[in-house]
Amino acid sequence: MERVSFYNRKGGIGKSTLAYNISFGLSKINKKVCLLDLDSQKDSTNFLGTFLNGESKDYVGFDELFDASKKVSIENCLIEVRTNLYVISNRDLRTMETILGKNIRAEKMFEEKINKLKELGFDYVLYDCSPSLISKINDSALCNSDSIVLPVQLQSAAIRASANVANYLAELYIDPSVIKCVIPNMKKSTKESTKNLELVYKIFDVNIVTEAVKDKTRYTEASKYGKSIFEYDKDVAKEFMETFRKVVNLIG
Ligand SMILES: Nc1ncnc2c1ncn2[C@@H]1O[C@H](COP(=O)(O)OP(=O)(O)OP(=O)(O)O)[C@@H](O)[C@H]1O
Ligand SMILES: [Mg+2]
Repeated sequence: MERVSFYNRKGGIGKSTLAYNISFGLSKINKKVCLLDLDSQKDSTNFLGTFLNGESKDYVGFDELFDASKKVSIENCLIEVRTNLYVISNRDLRTMETILGKNIRAEKMFEEKINKLKELGFDYVLYDCSPSLISKINDSALCNSDSIVLPVQLQSAAIRASANVANYLAELYIDPSVIKCVIPNMKKSTKESTKNLELVYKIFDVNIVTEAVKDKTRYTEASKYGKSIFEYDKDVAKEFMETFRKVVNLIG
């Protein structure tokens, strides 16, 4: 089972958008996929249309696994949203932060829960990380990743800030080579945007940079309707396939 974090220390750059569309794509190539929503905004949960008809009252959040008084297991958290595609959402990540923060083996606690997904036959678990800079939840996810996918918004300040992710990983004693894939996102048809794409190639190893994802309102629309881009717009999906294929190659 491959564990993949969608991570960047900057907010609003496409982590959730890419995580849910790639999760959907993987499920379509017959992989059993779990998208673990680690952001209290629950964007990727909602982008997949999980609670489109009102939030289900009886789902179990990932955070509840860390509350010893609740006798729940990860199987209870799985919400089937499509064939082969499951979401694990959350309810109270602040309490989970506190619990992990108090435990010096937080990463191990996290690992133990995730390992159960392997036993359930999952091929991939994708972590949609929050933009929070200080987060034991994000740190635990990063420590439990075989790959980190780094979405980078094509804006010069955002690109330079993304380069700092490697330093942050080093602080966590994570080998920065775990960043296996960089996705330039929101590519506009301007000279500025093309120049910024070149900057991405300069800063990161070109072999791990995918095709840029174009800036298209169709991505936002699709997420509002609870649909993946593959279900919402065939033409945009065709372009996105280039990026998707490279991601699959890089994360294995
Ligand atoms: N390629 C794209 N073209 C147009 N809009 C996009 C694209 N990618 C993402 N967006 C839009 O940008 C906004 C931010 O995207 P998203 O929520 O995926 O970012 P994020 O990094 O997960 O944000 P956060 O840090 O808040 O979790 C959303 O409205 C989304 O629809
Ligand atoms: Mg997000």
